[in-house]
Amino acid sequence: MSYEELISAAAELLRQGGRNFALTGAGVSTESGIPDFRSPGTGLWERYDPMKTATLSALRRDPAAFYDWNLQRWEAVAGAEPNPAHTALARMEELGFLAGLITQNIDGLHLKAGSKSLFEIHGHLRTCRCMSCERHFPFSHVTDQYGAGINPPHCACGGVLRPDVVLFEDRMSPDFFRATQALSGCQVLVVAGTSLQVYPAAGLLDLARRVVIINREPVPGSERADLVIHGPAGRILSDLARVCAG
Ligand code: APR
Repeated sequence: MSYEELISAAAELLRQGGRNFALTGAGVSTESGIPDFRSPGTGLWERYDPMKTATLSALRRDPAAFYDWNLQRWEAVAGAEPNPAHTALARMEELGFLAGLITQNIDGLHLKAGSKSLFEIHGHLRTCRCMSCERHFPFSHVTDQYGAGINPPHCACGGVLRPDVVLFEDRMSPDFFRATQALSGCQVLVVAGTSLQVYPAAGLLDLARRVVIINREPVPGSERADLVIHGPAGRILSDLARVCAG
């Protein structure tokens, strides 16, 4: 099928009604200047070992090093703006073609773009919590202390503060369980910008009747998809939203 035929076929699936969802990964934020994790040559995990920098045991073992590894990158994310991929998905929700959006991203760009029914299954960077007393605070409690040379950032009770993101070895977020509930009866799942390497997120495809994969390069799981459209998520999702809108 040509590109135009693929977009029309995807729009046709979404227009058939039913509860459709989107599942996104870091690939929808690269056009906002945020590197993804596994793209050859630019992915973050080509430069850092995730087992050293993004696991619960790394945080527990050396929280100061954990923040040295991650905080500068996370603060850079805070300054990023949504790109056409984010705005197209928010538009499709507004037009009723998406009942919700499930994201693995912690950058908050779907929220900034106006998505309402949003499930941030790997958490977000808006709040943090104390690893001892479990109290929650705005994430600025971490960035302010780190900026004042206090590393690791800590709670008044003395406990170390940790971000409300899901690290490797962490339990899944409440949003993940809410997303699995919301996906019951899902008609079409539009999967965009994810390598589908990480579970249980990648397993969410099994809950959808139909799957449309949008990605710059081939990903495992494509054989399960009804449609696969390779290319930049910003352009593809914008074209898809335009054709859906009619
Ligand atoms: N348009 C379309 N696809 C893109 C674009 C783009 N502009 N940029 C990158 N991609 C694709 C890449 O080809 C890759 O297949 O997006 C995918 C991103 O995959 P990953 O980097 O593995 O990111 P993701 O799937 O979100 O990772 C899942 O792994 O490390 C953990 O917690 C982290 O949430 C993350 C999880």
